[in-house]
Amino acid sequence: MTTIKLTGAMPLYEQIKTYIVQGIQDGRYRPGERIPSERELAEQLGVSRLTVHHAIKGLQQAGLLVAQVGRGTFVSPRPLNQQLEALTSFTEDMRLRGNAPSSQVLSAKVCPAPDDIARFLDVRPGTQLAVLQRVRIADDQPMALETSHLIASACPGLIDRYDFSRESLYRVLRQEYGLALAHAEQTIAARGATRDEARVLGLKPNAPVLHMTRVLYTADDRPLEYVISAYRGDSYTFHVVLRQV
Ligand code: GLP
Repeated sequence: MTTIKLTGAMPLYEQIKTYIVQGIQDGRYRPGERIPSERELAEQLGVSRLTVHHAIKGLQQAGLLVAQVGRGTFVSPRPLNQQLEALTSFTEDMRLRGNAPSSQVLSAKVCPAPDDIARFLDVRPGTQLAVLQRVRIADDQPMALETSHLIASACPGLIDRYDFSRESLYRVLRQEYGLALAHAEQTIAARGATRDEARVLGLKPNAPVLHMTRVLYTADDRPLEYVISAYRGDSYTFHVVLRQV
């Protein structure tokens, strides 16, 4: 039966999207297979069919589900290839690729925002930020070095209450703080690994990495997180779907 935890804090359709994405991640819904109908899901979850419809539409737009007229809704045959359009966390991204995610926390602290980061987060310099630096691991291989800066007042106690060597940050933000993570802006550039990145990722200094920055926004269009990451260039690939507009 259902494992969805309806918290009331997040819009219902967002919770249903999370439920379906978890189903894809844990293999309940397999690539290329049909998922239950809107009516069946509405009954299973005790919500209206319109709410389920809204959630499914969002996942179709993100490329994770595909509608086939007269046949139903199917898990995209290659959901992995379309991740760049979906707002996924490292944990979700790795599970979709069939890898086991984990993290090593290098530092976790609250500190005042420097000018440049304050600008990205649209706050005054000196605003308290929760700063989390982690080595992100896929199976047993270090995959990325990631430093997240979050507005501390939006998620009080984040650093003290959760163990981010085990927890997914996005899960905690969504489910424990009830924050609706809506969209993000991301830039990707190629460059050589710094000495620190090379050390924690097990690369030679200056080996190629994908350097990414992401500003994550909540549903009210306010920035919540600014992230700087370096993904190893020898084993991480992005695939982008482009559509005629
Ligand atoms: C991705 C994003 C980061 C985000 C992280 C959360 O790696 N690039 O911006 O902080 O996911 O990951 P998790 O929820 O697994 O902790």
